[in-house]
Amino acid sequence: QRLPELLRRMPKAELHMHIEGSLEPELIFALARRNGVSVPYADVEALRKAYAFSNLQSFLDIYYAGASVLLTEQDFYDMAWAYLQRAAADNVVHTEMFFDPQTHTARGVAVETVINGLHRACVDAQAQLGVSALLILCFLRHLSEREAFETLEQALPFRDKFIGVGLDSSELGHPPEKFAQVFARCRELGLRLVAHAGEEGPPAYVWSALDVLKVERIDHGVQSVKDPALMQRLAQDRIPLTVCPLSNLKLCVFPDLAQHNLGALLDAGLVATVNSDDPAYFGGYVNQNFTETFAATGLGARQAWQLAANSFEGSFIDASAKRAYM
Ligand code: ADE
Ligand code: ZN
Repeated sequence: QRLPELLRRMPKAELHMHIEGSLEPELIFALARRNGVSVPYADVEALRKAYAFSNLQSFLDIYYAGASVLLTEQDFYDMAWAYLQRAAADNVVHTEMFFDPQTHTARGVAVETVINGLHRACVDAQAQLGVSALLILCFLRHLSEREAFETLEQALPFRDKFIGVGLDSSELGHPPEKFAQVFARCRELGLRLVAHAGEEGPPAYVWSALDVLKVERIDHGVQSVKDPALMQRLAQDRIPLTVCPLSNLKLCVFPDLAQHNLGALLDAGLVATVNSDDPAYFGGYVNQNFTETFAATGLGARQAWQLAANSFEGSFIDASAKRAYM
C-alpha cells in the first residue's frame, strides 16, 4: 500500500490532457439541459456505455459529439474548473491543458468565448487551489493547414492567454509535415511547440514532428521504441514524451497495461511522463494512470520519483520555478 500512496501524494505536473476530454457524462447532460442541446443518448449510463473504443478514430467521433454541448464562456469555465479541482486532488501542482478551438468555431462559438472561459478557470485555480495552469491551443490535423492558419489568426488577439500550440486528432494519414508552415509561423511568434506523434502513427511521424515542426515535446511517442536511432535522439536531446497509459489501453495501442512500454522508455533514459489525455473517457485522472500502470507493470518508487521529476523538467514553467520542484 505504500507505493500507491507515494504515487498519489507526490507533487506532479500534468503535461498532456485535452480539456474537452475531461467532460464527464454528468456535466455533458447538465450543459445540454442548460443550453437546450440534445444528446443522442438516453442518460448518463447509456452514454458511459458507449465509451468502448477500438482505436483513436472511434474515440474521436464520440469525443467531438460530447463537446457539442459547450456554447458559452461559462460552459468552458465550468468544464475547466471541474478538471482543475480533480487535478488538485491528485496533487497536480502544475498543468498544461490542451484545447481544440476548431471543434467549437465550427459550431459558431467564437475563439474568444473558448479562451476567456478556460483562462478565467486557470486564474482561479492559481488563486483558490494553488495549481498553476497554462493553455496550449491545438490544431486539428484532419483539417487543412489553411484552416489552422485561420484559427491562429482568430486566436492571436488572445496571445497572452495561451503559451503554445499543439497538433491533435486523427494521426494516421495526417503527418506532422502537413503543418510545416503554420508551425514555422508559431515559432516566429515565440509560441511553445508540441505535437501528438507516434500514438498510432509510425516513428517517421515523430522524426518529422522534431525535424520539420521543431517541437519541444512529443505527445504520446510510444511507437518510438520501434526505431533505435529515434530512441537515441530522444534521449540525447532530452525530448519529453507525454505518455498516457490508460488512453493507450482504451484505444487498443497496447493489448493490456502489463505490456505498456513506459518502463522501457524510462530504462532507455527518455524523459517520459504520465498523463491522463482524456480522463472522462479513459477511466481515470492522472493518479489513476499512475496507480494502475505501476500495479500492472511492476514499476517501483525509483520510477515514481523519476516520472515526477520528468514532469517538471518537461513542463513550460520557468527555469527557477522548475528547480524548486526537482
Ligand atoms: N484529441 C483528444 N485526445 C486525443 C488523442 N489521444 N490523440 C489525438 N487527438 C486527441
Ligand atoms: Zn492527447
